[in-house]
Amino acid sequence: MSRKRLLWQLYPSYLAITLLALVAIAIYSSNAFKQLFYEQTLSELTHSARLVSQIILGSNAWSEKTIDAICKQAAQNSSKRITVILPDGVVIGDSEEDPGLMENHAERPEVSEALEGSVGIATRHSRTLGKDMTYAAIPLYKNDKVAAVVRTSMPTRSLSEVMSSLYAGIALEAVLLAILVAAMLLVISRKIIKPLEKIRIGARKFLEGDLSYRLRVHGSDEVKALATTMNQMAAELQERIERLKQMENTRREFVANVSHELKTPITSIKGFAETLRDGALDDPSRAKQFLEIIASHAERISNIIEDLLHLSRIEQVHEVQQIPLERSAIREMLESAILMCETKASEKKITLELSCDAGLTALINPALLEQAVVNLIDNAIKYSAEGGKVFIEAKDDASGMRISVRDSGVGIPQEHLSRIFERFYRVDKGRSRKLGGTGLGLAIVKHIVAVHNGHVSVESTVGQGSKFTIRLPAE
Ligand SMILES: Nc1ncnc2c1ncn2[C@@H]1O[C@H](COP(=O)(O)OP(=O)(O)OP(=O)(O)O)[C@@H](O)[C@H]1O
Ligand SMILES: [Mg+2]
Repeated sequence: MSRKRLLWQLYPSYLAITLLALVAIAIYSSNAFKQLFYEQTLSELTHSARLVSQIILGSNAWSEKTIDAICKQAAQNSSKRITVILPDGVVIGDSEEDPGLMENHAERPEVSEALEGSVGIATRHSRTLGKDMTYAAIPLYKNDKVAAVVRTSMPTRSLSEVMSSLYAGIALEAVLLAILVAAMLLVISRKIIKPLEKIRIGARKFLEGDLSYRLRVHGSDEVKALATTMNQMAAELQERIERLKQMENTRREFVANVSHELKTPITSIKGFAETLRDGALDDPSRAKQFLEIIASHAERISNIIEDLLHLSRIEQVHEVQQIPLERSAIREMLESAILMCETKASEKKITLELSCDAGLTALINPALLEQAVVNLIDNAIKYSAEGGKVFIEAKDDASGMRISVRDSGVGIPQEHLSRIFERFYRVDKGRSRKLGGTGLGLAIVKHIVAVHNGHVSVESTVGQGSKFTIRLPAE
Protein backbone atom coordinates (compact mmCIF):
# COMPACT_ATOMS: atom_id res chain seq x y z
CA MET A 1 0.00 0.00 0.00
CA SER A 2 1.53 3.29 -1.08
CA ARG A 3 2.41 5.64 1.74
CA LYS A 4 1.48 8.54 -0.54
CA ARG A 5 -2.17 7.51 -0.37
CA LEU A 6 -4.37 10.23 1.02
CA LEU A 7 -5.69 7.82 3.65
CA TRP A 8 -2.19 7.32 5.05
CA GLN A 9 -1.57 11.04 4.94
CA LEU A 10 -4.79 11.98 6.71
CA TYR A 11 -5.22 9.15 9.14
CA PRO A 12 -2.00 9.33 11.24
CA SER A 13 -2.34 13.08 11.75
CA TYR A 14 -6.00 12.72 12.74
CA LEU A 15 -4.99 9.97 15.14
CA ALA A 16 -2.06 11.92 16.59
CA ILE A 17 -4.21 14.99 17.21
CA THR A 18 -6.95 12.97 18.85
CA LEU A 19 -4.56 10.99 21.04
CA LEU A 20 -2.79 14.16 22.10
CA ALA A 21 -6.12 15.68 23.09
CA LEU A 22 -7.02 12.52 24.98
CA VAL A 23 -3.75 12.47 26.93
CA ALA A 24 -4.09 16.17 27.75
CA ILE A 25 -7.62 15.63 29.03
CA ALA A 26 -6.51 12.62 31.09
CA ILE A 27 -3.63 14.55 32.69
CA TYR A 28 -5.73 17.60 33.33
CA SER A 29 -8.65 15.69 34.83
CA SER A 30 -6.45 13.53 37.10
CA ASN A 31 -4.62 16.64 38.33
CA ALA A 32 -7.87 18.39 38.98
CA PHE A 33 -9.14 15.32 40.79
CA LYS A 34 -5.98 15.07 42.88
CA GLN A 35 -6.36 18.68 43.92
CA LEU A 36 -10.00 18.14 44.74
CA PHE A 37 -9.24 15.03 46.75
CA TYR A 38 -6.46 16.76 48.67
CA GLU A 39 -8.70 19.68 49.54
CA GLN A 40 -11.44 17.28 50.54
CA THR A 41 -9.02 15.44 52.84
CA LEU A 42 -7.84 18.69 54.45
CA SER A 43 -11.35 19.94 55.04
CA GLU A 44 -12.25 16.58 56.58
CA LEU A 45 -9.18 16.73 58.83
CA THR A 46 -9.98 20.30 59.99
CA HIS A 47 -13.62 19.39 60.46
CA SER A 48 -12.70 16.47 62.73
CA ALA A 49 -10.26 18.68 64.62
CA ARG A 50 -13.05 21.19 65.23
CA LEU A 51 -15.37 18.45 66.46
CA VAL A 52 -12.76 17.15 68.89
CA SER A 53 -12.00 20.65 70.17
CA GLN A 54 -15.72 21.18 70.80
CA ILE A 55 -15.91 17.92 72.72
CA ILE A 56 -12.90 18.94 74.80
CA LEU A 57 -14.37 22.39 75.49
CA GLY A 58 -17.67 20.76 76.40
CA SER A 59 -16.18 18.38 78.91
CA ASN A 60 -15.84 20.09 82.29
CA ALA A 61 -12.80 18.26 83.53
CA TRP A 62 -9.70 19.55 81.86
CA SER A 63 -7.22 16.85 82.61
CA GLU A 64 -4.67 15.02 80.55
CA LYS A 65 -6.43 11.77 81.15
CA THR A 66 -9.84 12.87 79.92
CA ILE A 67 -8.33 14.57 76.91
CA ASP A 68 -6.34 11.49 75.99
CA ALA A 69 -9.50 9.41 76.38
CA ILE A 70 -11.46 11.77 74.19
CA CYS A 71 -8.79 11.49 71.52
CA LYS A 72 -8.78 7.70 71.66
CA GLN A 73 -12.55 7.51 71.55
CA ALA A 74 -13.03 10.04 68.76
CA ALA A 75 -10.56 8.18 66.57
CA GLN A 76 -12.39 4.89 66.86
CA ASN A 77 -13.77 3.56 63.54
CA SER A 78 -11.74 6.12 61.63
CA SER A 79 -8.43 6.12 59.86
CA LYS A 80 -7.60 9.50 61.42
CA ARG A 81 -5.18 10.05 64.25
CA ILE A 82 -6.01 12.75 66.76
CA THR A 83 -3.41 14.50 68.91
CA VAL A 84 -3.79 17.32 71.44
CA ILE A 85 -0.72 19.42 72.20
CA LEU A 86 -0.24 22.10 74.83
CA PRO A 87 1.18 25.53 73.83
CA ASP A 88 4.62 24.47 75.15
CA GLY A 89 4.65 21.50 72.80
CA VAL A 90 3.86 18.78 75.34
CA VAL A 91 1.50 16.15 73.97
CA ILE A 92 -1.35 15.51 76.35
CA GLY A 93 -3.59 13.31 74.26
CA ASP A 94 -3.10 10.97 71.33
CA SER A 95 -5.41 8.44 69.79
CA GLU A 96 -2.69 5.97 69.00
CA GLU A 97 0.18 6.40 71.46
CA ASP A 98 0.78 7.03 75.08
CA PRO A 99 1.19 10.84 75.14
CA GLY A 100 3.73 10.54 77.93
CA LEU A 101 6.13 8.72 75.59
CA MET A 102 5.88 11.27 72.79
CA GLU A 103 8.47 13.94 72.15
CA ASN A 104 7.82 17.67 72.31
CA HIS A 105 5.75 18.80 69.29
CA ALA A 106 6.35 22.57 69.54
CA GLU A 107 8.63 22.53 66.48
CA ARG A 108 6.15 20.74 64.21
CA PRO A 109 5.31 23.35 61.52
CA GLU A 110 1.53 22.73 61.62
CA VAL A 111 1.57 23.02 65.42
CA SER A 112 3.53 26.29 65.47
CA GLU A 113 1.18 27.70 62.82
CA ALA A 114 -1.87 26.76 64.89
CA LEU A 115 -0.26 28.29 67.95
CA GLU A 116 -0.09 31.56 66.03
CA GLY A 117 -3.85 31.38 65.59
CA SER A 118 -4.34 29.97 62.06
CA VAL A 119 -5.03 26.51 60.66
CA GLY A 120 -1.74 24.67 60.23
CA ILE A 121 -1.30 22.21 57.41
CA ALA A 122 1.61 19.93 56.61
CA THR A 123 2.53 16.75 54.83
CA ARG A 124 5.59 14.89 55.99
CA HIS A 125 7.07 11.65 57.22
CA SER A 126 6.05 10.78 60.75
CA ARG A 127 8.88 9.32 62.78
CA THR A 128 6.41 8.14 65.41
CA LEU A 129 4.39 6.10 62.89
CA GLY A 130 6.99 5.57 60.21
CA LYS A 131 4.60 6.72 57.43
CA ASP A 132 3.95 9.78 55.26
CA MET A 133 1.20 11.76 56.92
CA THR A 134 -0.99 14.77 56.17
CA TYR A 135 -1.66 16.98 59.16
CA ALA A 136 -4.22 19.69 60.00
CA ALA A 137 -3.91 21.58 63.29
CA ILE A 138 -6.28 24.15 64.80
CA PRO A 139 -5.91 26.27 67.94
CA LEU A 140 -8.20 25.57 70.89
CA TYR A 141 -9.14 28.82 72.69
CA LYS A 142 -9.93 29.10 76.37
CA ASN A 143 -10.51 32.58 77.82
CA ASP A 144 -9.33 34.14 74.52
CA LYS A 145 -6.01 32.43 74.77
CA VAL A 146 -4.67 29.45 72.85
CA ALA A 147 -4.93 26.72 75.46
CA ALA A 148 -4.02 23.82 73.18
CA VAL A 149 -3.71 22.67 69.60
CA VAL A 150 -5.93 19.90 68.23
CA ARG A 151 -4.24 18.10 65.40
CA THR A 152 -5.73 15.48 63.14
CA SER A 153 -3.77 13.45 60.62
CA MET A 154 -4.20 10.80 58.02
CA PRO A 155 -1.65 8.64 56.25
CA THR A 156 -0.82 10.31 52.93
CA ARG A 157 -0.66 6.87 51.43
CA SER A 158 -4.38 6.42 51.56
CA LEU A 159 -4.61 9.54 49.39
CA SER A 160 -2.01 8.38 46.91
CA GLU A 161 -3.51 4.89 46.93
CA VAL A 162 -6.86 6.34 45.88
CA MET A 163 -5.08 8.45 43.33
CA SER A 164 -3.11 5.61 41.78
CA SER A 165 -6.19 3.42 41.42
CA LEU A 166 -7.89 6.43 39.89
CA TYR A 167 -4.97 6.91 37.49
CA ALA A 168 -5.20 3.27 36.47
CA GLY A 169 -8.92 3.71 35.76
CA ILE A 170 -8.37 6.84 33.75
CA ALA A 171 -5.51 5.25 31.82
CA LEU A 172 -7.59 2.17 31.00
CA GLU A 173 -10.49 4.26 29.83
CA ALA A 174 -8.19 6.46 27.80
CA VAL A 175 -6.71 3.41 26.08
CA LEU A 176 -10.17 1.98 25.33
CA LEU A 177 -11.32 5.36 24.06
CA ALA A 178 -8.17 5.69 21.94
CA ILE A 179 -8.83 2.31 20.31
CA LEU A 180 -12.43 3.29 19.64
CA VAL A 181 -11.40 6.68 18.27
CA ALA A 182 -8.74 5.09 16.07
CA ALA A 183 -11.31 2.73 14.57
CA MET A 184 -13.84 5.50 14.07
CA LEU A 185 -11.25 7.77 12.49
CA LEU A 186 -10.29 5.03 10.08
CA VAL A 187 -13.93 4.65 9.04
CA ILE A 188 -14.38 8.43 8.73
CA SER A 189 -11.15 8.91 6.77
CA ARG A 190 -12.18 6.13 4.41
CA LYS A 191 -15.56 7.79 3.96
CA ILE A 192 -13.98 11.11 3.09
CA ILE A 193 -11.58 9.50 0.67
CA LYS A 194 -14.03 7.15 -1.06
CA PRO A 195 -15.68 9.80 -3.27
CA LEU A 196 -12.23 10.96 -4.38
CA GLU A 197 -11.46 7.41 -5.38
CA LYS A 198 -14.70 7.34 -7.40
CA ILE A 199 -13.72 10.57 -9.10
CA ARG A 200 -10.32 9.13 -9.94
CA ILE A 201 -11.98 6.10 -11.55
CA GLY A 202 -14.31 8.41 -13.50
CA ALA A 203 -11.43 10.57 -14.71
CA ARG A 204 -9.66 7.41 -15.83
CA LYS A 205 -12.76 6.40 -17.83
CA PHE A 206 -12.88 9.82 -19.47
CA LEU A 207 -9.20 9.51 -20.29
CA GLU A 208 -9.83 6.13 -21.89
CA GLY A 209 -12.44 7.76 -24.09
CA ASP A 210 -15.59 6.62 -22.32
CA LEU A 211 -17.15 10.07 -22.34
CA SER A 212 -20.68 8.77 -21.83
CA TYR A 213 -19.67 7.58 -18.34
CA ARG A 214 -21.18 9.72 -15.58
CA LEU A 215 -19.81 10.14 -12.08
CA ARG A 216 -22.30 9.48 -9.29
CA VAL A 217 -20.73 10.81 -6.13
CA HIS A 218 -22.26 11.39 -2.72
CA GLY A 219 -20.09 13.37 -0.39
CA SER A 220 -19.21 16.88 0.62
CA ASP A 221 -20.41 19.86 -1.44
CA GLU A 222 -16.90 20.41 -2.79
CA VAL A 223 -16.54 16.84 -3.99
CA LYS A 224 -20.03 16.86 -5.48
CA ALA A 225 -19.28 20.12 -7.28
CA LEU A 226 -16.08 18.60 -8.64
CA ALA A 227 -17.96 15.55 -9.89
CA THR A 228 -20.65 17.72 -11.51
CA THR A 229 -18.04 19.85 -13.25
CA MET A 230 -16.26 16.76 -14.52
CA ASN A 231 -19.54 15.35 -15.81
CA GLN A 232 -20.26 18.61 -17.58
CA MET A 233 -16.77 18.61 -19.02
CA ALA A 234 -17.25 15.10 -20.37
CA ALA A 235 -20.64 16.01 -21.85
CA GLU A 236 -19.21 19.11 -23.49
CA LEU A 237 -16.25 17.17 -24.85
CA GLN A 238 -18.54 14.46 -26.17
CA GLU A 239 -20.70 17.05 -27.89
CA ARG A 240 -17.68 18.73 -29.46
CA ILE A 241 -16.26 15.45 -30.72
CA GLU A 242 -19.68 14.60 -32.15
CA ARG A 243 -19.82 17.96 -33.90
CA LEU A 244 -16.31 17.54 -35.27
CA LYS A 245 -17.20 14.09 -36.59
CA GLN A 246 -20.29 15.49 -38.23
CA MET A 247 -18.31 18.33 -39.80
CA GLU A 248 -15.75 15.87 -41.06
CA ASN A 249 -18.52 13.72 -42.57
CA THR A 250 -20.13 16.72 -44.22
CA ARG A 251 -16.80 17.77 -45.64
CA ARG A 252 -16.06 14.30 -47.00
CA GLU A 253 -19.52 14.05 -48.49
CA PHE A 254 -19.10 17.49 -49.99
CA VAL A 255 -15.82 16.61 -51.67
CA ALA A 256 -17.34 13.40 -53.00
CA ASN A 257 -20.36 15.30 -54.31
CA VAL A 258 -18.31 18.00 -55.99
CA SER A 259 -16.09 15.43 -57.66
CA HIS A 260 -19.11 13.52 -58.79
CA GLU A 261 -20.84 16.64 -60.13
CA LEU A 262 -17.77 17.74 -62.04
CA LYS A 263 -16.99 14.29 -63.34
CA THR A 264 -20.00 14.06 -65.67
CA PRO A 265 -19.40 17.26 -67.63
CA ILE A 266 -15.64 16.71 -67.67
CA THR A 267 -16.05 13.16 -69.00
CA SER A 268 -18.35 14.52 -71.71
CA ILE A 269 -15.97 17.29 -72.66
CA LYS A 270 -13.08 14.82 -72.80
CA GLY A 271 -15.11 12.36 -74.87
CA PHE A 272 -16.32 14.92 -77.42
CA ALA A 273 -12.88 16.54 -77.67
CA GLU A 274 -11.36 13.11 -78.42
CA THR A 275 -14.03 12.37 -81.00
CA LEU A 276 -13.27 15.68 -82.67
CA ARG A 277 -9.54 15.01 -82.65
CA ASP A 278 -10.02 11.53 -84.04
CA GLY A 279 -11.77 12.71 -87.20
CA ALA A 280 -15.11 14.27 -86.38
CA LEU A 281 -13.57 17.66 -87.12
CA ASP A 282 -13.75 16.77 -90.79
CA ASP A 283 -17.54 16.73 -90.65
CA PRO A 284 -18.34 20.39 -90.00
CA SER A 285 -21.99 19.92 -89.00
CA ARG A 286 -21.15 17.23 -86.44
CA ALA A 287 -18.14 19.22 -85.31
CA LYS A 288 -20.30 22.24 -84.55
CA GLN A 289 -22.81 20.12 -82.61
CA PHE A 290 -20.01 18.56 -80.56
CA LEU A 291 -18.45 21.93 -79.84
CA GLU A 292 -21.80 23.21 -78.63
CA ILE A 293 -22.11 20.25 -76.30
CA ILE A 294 -18.58 20.90 -75.05
CA ALA A 295 -19.41 24.56 -74.50
CA SER A 296 -22.59 23.72 -72.55
CA HIS A 297 -20.73 21.33 -70.30
CA ALA A 298 -18.01 23.90 -69.73
CA GLU A 299 -20.75 26.36 -68.86
CA ARG A 300 -22.14 23.87 -66.37
CA ILE A 301 -18.76 23.40 -64.72
CA SER A 302 -18.38 27.14 -64.51
CA ASN A 303 -21.86 27.44 -62.94
CA ILE A 304 -21.10 24.81 -60.35
CA ILE A 305 -17.81 26.43 -59.41
CA GLU A 306 -19.39 29.86 -59.24
CA ASP A 307 -22.14 28.56 -56.93
CA LEU A 308 -19.62 26.81 -54.74
CA LEU A 309 -17.49 29.91 -54.48
CA HIS A 310 -20.56 31.92 -53.63
CA LEU A 311 -21.54 29.50 -50.90
CA SER A 312 -18.09 29.36 -49.36
CA ARG A 313 -17.80 33.14 -49.45
CA ILE A 314 -21.02 33.53 -47.45
CA GLU A 315 -19.87 30.86 -45.03
CA GLN A 316 -16.47 32.42 -44.57
CA VAL A 317 -17.71 35.93 -44.02
CA HIS A 318 -20.38 34.64 -41.65
CA GLU A 319 -17.76 32.79 -39.64
CA VAL A 320 -15.24 35.58 -39.46
CA GLN A 321 -17.46 38.58 -38.96
CA GLN A 322 -21.02 39.79 -38.74
CA ILE A 323 -22.41 40.45 -42.22
CA PRO A 324 -23.55 44.09 -42.32
CA LEU A 325 -27.34 44.40 -42.19
CA GLU A 326 -29.10 47.65 -43.05
CA ARG A 327 -32.68 48.83 -42.86
CA SER A 328 -33.99 48.41 -46.40
CA ALA A 329 -37.28 48.45 -48.28
CA ILE A 330 -38.48 44.90 -48.84
CA ARG A 331 -40.58 45.70 -51.87
CA GLU A 332 -37.63 47.15 -53.79
CA MET A 333 -35.51 44.14 -53.02
CA LEU A 334 -38.28 41.78 -54.23
CA GLU A 335 -38.90 43.80 -57.39
CA SER A 336 -35.23 43.62 -58.21
CA ALA A 337 -35.27 39.83 -57.70
CA ILE A 338 -38.31 39.48 -59.95
CA LEU A 339 -36.59 41.53 -62.63
CA MET A 340 -33.65 39.11 -62.57
CA CYS A 341 -36.00 36.18 -63.31
CA GLU A 342 -38.25 37.95 -65.85
CA THR A 343 -36.54 36.56 -68.96
CA LYS A 344 -36.63 32.99 -67.71
CA ALA A 345 -40.26 33.35 -66.67
CA SER A 346 -41.40 34.79 -69.99
CA GLU A 347 -39.62 31.96 -71.84
CA LYS A 348 -42.03 29.59 -70.07
CA LYS A 349 -44.93 32.05 -70.20
CA ILE A 350 -45.01 32.14 -66.44
CA THR A 351 -46.31 35.25 -64.66
CA LEU A 352 -44.69 36.50 -61.48
CA GLU A 353 -47.06 38.24 -59.04
CA LEU A 354 -45.86 40.40 -56.21
CA SER A 355 -47.83 41.28 -53.10
CA CYS A 356 -45.94 43.53 -50.72
CA ASP A 357 -46.74 46.82 -48.97
CA ALA A 358 -44.54 49.62 -50.18
CA GLY A 359 -43.65 50.75 -46.68
CA LEU A 360 -42.27 47.42 -45.42
CA THR A 361 -38.71 47.57 -44.23
CA ALA A 362 -36.42 45.18 -42.38
CA LEU A 363 -32.82 44.84 -41.24
CA ILE A 364 -31.33 42.88 -44.12
CA ASN A 365 -28.40 42.60 -46.43
CA PRO A 366 -30.33 43.49 -49.63
CA ALA A 367 -27.87 41.97 -52.10
CA LEU A 368 -27.74 38.61 -50.28
CA LEU A 369 -31.44 38.36 -49.58
CA GLU A 370 -32.21 39.22 -53.18
CA GLN A 371 -29.97 36.33 -54.25
CA ALA A 372 -31.96 34.00 -51.96
CA VAL A 373 -35.29 35.14 -53.39
CA VAL A 374 -33.93 34.81 -56.93
CA ASN A 375 -32.96 31.20 -56.17
CA LEU A 376 -36.48 30.47 -54.90
CA ILE A 377 -38.19 32.13 -57.89
CA ASP A 378 -35.75 30.34 -60.22
CA ASN A 379 -36.82 26.99 -58.73
CA ALA A 380 -40.51 27.94 -58.89
CA ILE A 381 -40.14 28.66 -62.60
CA LYS A 382 -37.99 25.62 -63.24
CA TYR A 383 -40.33 23.17 -61.57
CA SER A 384 -43.59 24.62 -62.94
CA ALA A 385 -45.35 23.79 -66.18
CA GLU A 386 -45.62 26.42 -68.95
CA GLY A 387 -48.17 29.14 -68.35
CA GLY A 388 -48.10 28.82 -64.57
CA LYS A 389 -48.14 31.50 -61.93
CA VAL A 390 -45.65 32.28 -59.18
CA PHE A 391 -46.71 34.38 -56.18
CA ILE A 392 -44.14 36.36 -54.24
CA GLU A 393 -45.48 37.73 -50.99
CA ALA A 394 -44.06 39.66 -48.01
CA LYS A 395 -45.84 40.24 -44.72
CA ASP A 396 -44.83 41.76 -41.43
CA ASP A 397 -46.24 40.90 -37.99
CA ALA A 398 -45.23 40.68 -34.36
CA SER A 399 -43.20 37.51 -34.94
CA GLY A 400 -41.17 39.15 -37.73
CA MET A 401 -41.00 39.36 -41.51
CA ARG A 402 -42.25 36.53 -43.75
CA ILE A 403 -41.30 36.34 -47.41
CA SER A 404 -42.83 33.49 -49.39
CA VAL A 405 -42.50 32.18 -52.93
CA ARG A 406 -45.40 29.96 -54.02
CA ASP A 407 -45.83 28.01 -57.24
CA SER A 408 -48.32 25.54 -58.62
CA GLY A 409 -45.67 23.28 -60.10
CA VAL A 410 -44.72 19.64 -59.72
CA GLY A 411 -44.36 19.71 -55.95
CA ILE A 412 -41.90 17.77 -53.81
CA PRO A 413 -42.60 14.33 -52.30
CA GLN A 414 -42.79 14.43 -48.49
CA GLU A 415 -39.75 12.21 -47.91
CA HIS A 416 -37.44 14.68 -49.70
CA LEU A 417 -38.59 17.82 -47.90
CA SER A 418 -36.10 17.53 -45.05
CA ARG A 419 -33.14 17.11 -47.38
CA ILE A 420 -33.62 19.54 -50.26
CA PHE A 421 -31.63 22.26 -48.45
CA GLU A 422 -28.51 20.05 -48.46
CA ARG A 423 -25.82 20.78 -51.01
CA PHE A 424 -26.26 18.89 -54.27
CA TYR A 425 -29.46 17.29 -53.11
CA ARG A 426 -31.99 16.98 -55.89
CA VAL A 427 -35.29 15.14 -55.92
CA ASP A 428 -34.99 13.96 -59.48
CA LYS A 429 -31.34 14.07 -60.50
CA GLY A 430 -31.90 13.50 -64.21
CA ARG A 431 -34.63 16.07 -64.53
CA SER A 432 -32.84 18.68 -62.44
CA ARG A 433 -29.65 18.29 -64.41
CA LYS A 434 -31.51 18.61 -67.65
CA LEU A 435 -32.87 21.87 -66.31
CA GLY A 436 -29.31 22.96 -65.53
CA GLY A 437 -29.57 22.50 -61.77
CA THR A 438 -26.65 21.59 -59.54
CA GLY A 439 -28.61 21.31 -56.28
CA LEU A 440 -26.83 24.22 -54.66
CA GLY A 441 -29.57 26.86 -54.96
CA LEU A 442 -31.46 25.98 -51.77
CA ALA A 443 -28.23 25.44 -49.83
CA ILE A 444 -27.32 29.02 -50.68
CA VAL A 445 -30.80 30.19 -49.60
CA LYS A 446 -30.42 28.42 -46.28
CA HIS A 447 -27.05 30.04 -45.65
CA ILE A 448 -28.20 33.52 -46.54
CA VAL A 449 -31.23 33.21 -44.28
CA ALA A 450 -29.02 31.93 -41.45
CA VAL A 451 -26.84 35.00 -41.85
CA HIS A 452 -30.00 37.03 -41.13
CA ASN A 453 -30.68 34.85 -38.04
CA GLY A 454 -33.77 33.69 -39.87
CA HIS A 455 -35.24 30.39 -40.91
CA VAL A 456 -36.43 28.94 -44.22
CA SER A 457 -39.13 26.29 -44.51
CA VAL A 458 -41.06 24.50 -47.23
CA GLU A 459 -44.57 23.13 -47.65
CA SER A 460 -45.37 21.11 -50.73
CA THR A 461 -47.94 18.78 -52.25
CA VAL A 462 -46.96 16.63 -55.21
CA GLY A 463 -48.85 17.75 -58.32
CA GLN A 464 -50.18 20.91 -56.68
CA GLY A 465 -47.15 23.04 -55.96
CA SER A 466 -44.72 24.25 -53.34
CA LYS A 467 -44.39 27.19 -51.00
CA PHE A 468 -41.04 28.30 -49.59
CA THR A 469 -41.14 30.74 -46.68
CA ILE A 470 -38.25 32.83 -45.34
CA ARG A 471 -38.82 34.06 -41.77
CA LEU A 472 -36.73 36.92 -40.42
CA PRO A 473 -36.87 37.56 -36.68
CA ALA A 474 -38.63 40.64 -35.31
CA GLU A 475 -36.13 43.30 -34.23
N1 LIG B 1 -40.33 24.99 -56.33
C1 LIG B 1 -39.96 23.71 -56.42
N2 LIG B 1 -40.80 22.77 -56.90
C2 LIG B 1 -40.43 21.48 -56.96
N3 LIG B 1 -39.23 21.03 -56.61
C3 LIG B 1 -38.33 21.91 -56.13
C4 LIG B 1 -38.65 23.29 -56.01
N4 LIG B 1 -37.57 23.90 -55.49
C5 LIG B 1 -36.64 22.98 -55.31
N5 LIG B 1 -37.07 21.75 -55.68
C6 LIG B 1 -36.35 20.49 -55.58
O1 LIG B 1 -35.28 20.66 -54.71
C7 LIG B 1 -34.05 20.36 -55.33
C8 LIG B 1 -32.96 21.26 -54.82
O2 LIG B 1 -33.17 22.59 -55.25
P1 LIG B 1 -31.96 23.51 -55.51
O3 LIG B 1 -32.44 24.85 -55.89
O4 LIG B 1 -31.07 23.41 -54.34
O5 LIG B 1 -31.22 22.81 -56.70
P2 LIG B 1 -31.48 22.89 -58.23
O6 LIG B 1 -32.59 23.81 -58.52
O7 LIG B 1 -31.63 21.49 -58.70
O8 LIG B 1 -30.13 23.45 -58.78
P3 LIG B 1 -29.57 24.95 -58.69
O9 LIG B 1 -28.33 24.81 -57.92
O10 LIG B 1 -29.35 25.37 -60.08
O11 LIG B 1 -30.60 25.74 -58.01
C9 LIG B 1 -34.32 20.51 -56.79
O12 LIG B 1 -33.46 19.70 -57.53
C10 LIG B 1 -35.76 20.06 -56.90
O13 LIG B 1 -35.81 18.68 -56.99
MG1 LIG C 1 -32.46 25.86 -57.79
